[in-house]
Amino acid sequence: MQELRSQPIGIFDSGVGGLTIAKAIVNALPNENLIYYGDTAHLPYGDKSQHTIQAYTLSICDFLVKQQCKTIVIACNSASAAASQLVHEKYPDVSIINVIDPMIDYFKLHGDNYKKTGLIATKHTVSSNIYQNKFKLANIPTQLLAMATPLLVPLIEFGYSNSHILDEVISDYLDSCVIADINALILGCTHYPIIKTKFHQFFEKKAITNIDIIDATTLVPAYVRSSLVARDLLNNDASPYRKFLVSDYTDSFAEVATLFFGDDIKLELQTL
Ligand code: DGL
Repeated sequence: MQELRSQPIGIFDSGVGGLTIAKAIVNALPNENLIYYGDTAHLPYGDKSQHTIQAYTLSICDFLVKQQCKTIVIACNSASAAASQLVHEKYPDVSIINVIDPMIDYFKLHGDNYKKTGLIATKHTVSSNIYQNKFKLANIPTQLLAMATPLLVPLIEFGYSNSHILDEVISDYLDSCVIADINALILGCTHYPIIKTKFHQFFEKKAITNIDIIDATTLVPAYVRSSLVARDLLNNDASPYRKFLVSDYTDSFAEVATLFFGDDIKLELQTL
């Protein structure tokens, strides 16, 4: 049994975005071994077709299943939207957690507090209508106003997270009437929590104080924990390993990974 418990949690994204989820999982479950896969050779996912995102997602899941991950976290909204169902069909016995359903569950509980909510995400996530469809299916009373914000991921990946260019881009997007008069904003891309303070600053500057900015980092770890508890697979290793694999080495990935996990991490190149 201990052998099963020490199998890693597998987490993946197109790039650095999923590190926000990985960090939250490590904080909640510090004794777990972890493999993170950043598909940096293929980012951004959000501008690609559903077929292409599905192909990338399947090959990463194949790899993580071969690594005997006890739970796989699709730490990417675009991949969750494009391929969640597909990977569940391919691996019905593997615990696979996406980043969209926990948000839907959150709104099932708290939707009454939010009349109008903005959703910003990649082109793929927005055009898939997955949030809108799931809100409808769950009878969530919140009106969801969705807007694609495709410039944010490249700016984050190319190291512009602290730049005034990013401020301009955020202002341009959020000033849009598409998401006017909202009282919550869903960050529907796992890259966006990296620049969460920028969104807060935007609203502060406008003296808008009644907006909740919600992202999956606060929601997903509980799902991972429940999945492990339900199968009696919580690990108690005092010095767990954390592996960071990328399909292409990028400075920005190394920087953000170091920022989140400290200097001692080593990036390994792993093409699939
Ligand atoms: N972080 C991802 C998401 O949540 C992917 C962004 C991208 O590669 O376009 O959608």
